[in-house]
Amino acid sequence: MRKAALAAILAASAVAASCASEPPATEPVARGRQVYREQSCASCHEGSLLNFFRPVGPELGHIGTVADTRRPGVTAADYLRQSVTDPGAFVVPGYPDSMPRGLADRLSREDLDALVAYLLSLR
Ligand code: HEC
Repeated sequence: MRKAALAAILAASAVAASCASEPPATEPVARGRQVYREQSCASCHEGSLLNFFRPVGPELGHIGTVADTRRPGVTAADYLRQSVTDPGAFVVPGYPDSMPRGLADRLSREDLDALVAYLLSLR
């Protein structure tokens, strides 16, 4: 019973934290981190109570390094940009093709660049 109450409190504070708005950062990596949060990327890429610690997508903790190895001849930056703007172009083996579509239309050019810079920084 106590565990359930604690879980509910944790979940509620996680939701509250993700809803709190902050002014847009000017530094690209910091801005990219904000975009990542605003677009709820973590809901599929990080384990949490909300997905029972079984995220549907691969974890991105080292994606800046991993991205370099995904497709021969494609730079990490290009791979990451394409992962967001054209997710069906390459589907990570073992995962469903369920990255959201249309992100490129929802994000400004600056925010997309910042998001890529943030992902690249996760080495
Ligand atoms: C609805 C769930 C979902 C959401 C939301 C989501 N993703 Fe994904 N993502 C996936 C899945 C599943 C994959 C693996 C399949 C594939 O490659 O498309 C993936 C793959 C990726 C990859 C490639 C990872 C690798 O190891 O090569 C990147 C980068 C990525 N997502 C970034 C993002 C970013 C940034 C956001 C937020 C703007 C986001 N994703 C939102 C489900 C999601």
